[in-house]
Amino acid sequence: MTPDPQPCDPQPTDGQQRLLDRRRFVQLAGVGAAATAVGLGAPTLRESLAAASVRPEGTFSLGVASGDPLADGVVLWTRLAPDPLAADGHGGMPHDPVTVRWEVADDASFRRVVRRGMERADFTSGHAVHAEVSGLAPGRDYYYRFAADGETSPVGRTRTAPAPGARPDSLRFAFASCQSWAGGRYAAYRTMAEEDLDLVVHLGDYVYERSDTRTVSDFRLLHALYKTSPDLRAAHAAFPFVVVFDDHEVDNDWAGDVSQDNEPVESFRALRAAAFQAYYEHLPLRRAQVPRGPEMRIHRRLTYGRLLELNVLDTRQYRDDQVGSGFPGGPRDPRTLDPARTMTGDAQERWLLDGLRRSKSRWNVIAQQTIMAQFDYDPGPVESINRDQWDGYVPARQRILRALGEGGPSNPVVLTGDWHSSWVNDLKRDFDDPASETVATEFVGTSISSGCGWRADVEAALPANPHVRFFDGTYRGYVRCEVTPDSWRSDYRVVSSAGDPTGPAGTLSAWRVLDGQPGAQRVDGLTITGVRVPVLEAGRPGHATVSLTNQTGEDVGVEAVAVAPQGWSSTPVRATVASTGSTDVQLPITPPGPEPSTADLDVRVVADGAEVFGPPRLQHVVAVPATDDTVLSLDAGPATGPVQAGFARHSPAETWSADRGYGWVGTPLPDSRDRGRPDDLRRDFALGRGAATTLRLHVPPGLHRAWFLTGDASFDAGNTIVSIAGRVVAQSGPQVIPAGRFVFVEVPLDGGPAGRDVDLELTGDLREGFWRLVSLSLTGR
Ligand SMILES: [Fe+2]
Repeated sequence: MTPDPQPCDPQPTDGQQRLLDRRRFVQLAGVGAAATAVGLGAPTLRESLAAASVRPEGTFSLGVASGDPLADGVVLWTRLAPDPLAADGHGGMPHDPVTVRWEVADDASFRRVVRRGMERADFTSGHAVHAEVSGLAPGRDYYYRFAADGETSPVGRTRTAPAPGARPDSLRFAFASCQSWAGGRYAAYRTMAEEDLDLVVHLGDYVYERSDTRTVSDFRLLHALYKTSPDLRAAHAAFPFVVVFDDHEVDNDWAGDVSQDNEPVESFRALRAAAFQAYYEHLPLRRAQVPRGPEMRIHRRLTYGRLLELNVLDTRQYRDDQVGSGFPGGPRDPRTLDPARTMTGDAQERWLLDGLRRSKSRWNVIAQQTIMAQFDYDPGPVESINRDQWDGYVPARQRILRALGEGGPSNPVVLTGDWHSSWVNDLKRDFDDPASETVATEFVGTSISSGCGWRADVEAALPANPHVRFFDGTYRGYVRCEVTPDSWRSDYRVVSSAGDPTGPAGTLSAWRVLDGQPGAQRVDGLTITGVRVPVLEAGRPGHATVSLTNQTGEDVGVEAVAVAPQGWSSTPVRATVASTGSTDVQLPITPPGPEPSTADLDVRVVADGAEVFGPPRLQHVVAVPATDDTVLSLDAGPATGPVQAGFARHSPAETWSADRGYGWVGTPLPDSRDRGRPDDLRRDFALGRGAATTLRLHVPPGLHRAWFLTGDASFDAGNTIVSIAGRVVAQSGPQVIPAGRFVFVEVPLDGGPAGRDVDLELTGDLREGFWRLVSLSLTGR
């Protein structure tokens, strides 16, 4: 677990929140902050089907795809479904088999057709079509299409692998994973489809099973739902895919014959068979991958001449059950060190190690699911690991790493999905010794759309894991790799929003591995290295500071702008970022006024027409009432420590005094906390729970308003309720306020003709009942 930065903090729920196991997180992942805050699970399949807004039409509504390229051919896929979301899962098809014709051509207009054939689409296999085409030339683009029921499919493009023994100059491919429907679809695929790629490798979580996916029909509907995304279909039509499943195609965190909830083996095997059948029916897989009931041979090897060999692993079907639940697992259990435990099964492990030993390829890739590098989630002396990942199977990992080290295959690289975040890891012979040999680089790709609820846990633990060279949990996307005989380059391609296909996309970070030199080097061009926004004043001009680092070797002109909600204004700024070092750009921002507000500010920087990314550009900002407009501006917090400029200190020691015109009254008195960030105003606050705490304010004559700011920089916060004489007059809302976010609570007050003192009672009724007061501004109305 990640320790509370304030160990004596009387907030057990905060600690428990961070101890949520992975299963709970995964239920929440991708659902969005609002749903997370109120603890809602993900929607069921039926709810998602009912909400599906676009239902593509025609026999080929699910699109076309190609996969598993060989030097002389590929497998082509489609599935006939004129009514793709028909309730029986059969896509609106009758019981009869249908003959489907296919053609492969040199050109997109099919003037030069080089291969054609027929396949039978059967009711029992969902009228899916898998046509294995051979006799094609190596290393070439081809176009393909299907025809059935008087209709012709969209045209797909594919590419064969280079000839065995050939020495291609380069290979460009992308790898991706984790495309939760609820997380938003699919800006990342829209961007990917515009790339120039030879291949896409999908590492799993292609669909997310739901509580109501049990039968083949259910899983067919789930896959069909996902394929209603035009962006997913476009990516399939543009490039051949190599796909492999992880857990969510079947059941969260399943392991061999063991389901998440330990259901009886026979019933879980029936579920697995249904899930495998639908997976096969919806993806471009060869005959060798046809499932036999609950068994499916998915691990396999693809070769790109002498340049690259791809070992695709199955880390679910043959593994031992996790020791306890996945994330974070708590102190290391000695069973995770048992050499008999396996992630791949013995046969697959032998197959992998034999293949690596025999490989003649320059680059040797292991494409698999869960993070292979060790990662200790506890920066302190106790080790805390994710037991669903390779950390739960240590000797199995070390056997592979040993095989990759000295005398092993040329240039090993591990590609990983599963964890919805971007990482670059040195895979060490001994992770506990930073000086030990780096045997390979692990590139972990972020999700296409699934959320990363554990981002803060990883960030807090990074200092304890120096072999993790890069981490980002903010952005969704995929990794684009360009491989030549001399070097490997990985570009972490990200989108600003998983669910907005028109939003900006760009490269978050780029890394290079040189032939013969294990370990990656960062080769970013221009990146945002920081965005700072101080507390702003409502209606008054302020600014954000954007730090940019330039490693392109040339001066770069940029345009920066803050995208803010209605009422906020910002002027774009042009600047030149010098070829060396870092440049700060001041970005003018004016919040609306005179009333205070909070907003999410997206700082965008464009260079040469391309979006620049970096650490989170999205900032939650606060505009307080301008202090020269207020009767009182109080910054709540401890009795010592910084106070926001223009504000008066309001600690638990400030009890009521008529001279001051404010102060605490009676008991209980509040407590206080200081989180140390992000600024003098928001870092600290007063808090309490249980019986109401009373704050007396002198209200001058006439109508006034008190603005309570509540929230917590470091933890999810409960609500804050303000009452007068036992009657609720205002509250922050019925929901938990996520960590790092703040909310204003407006309390109307009438000072009458002569002014008067008002007692405001503070309570909370969420998360152990803690209320929080960050600041208070009293304004005229
Ligand atoms: Fe996932």
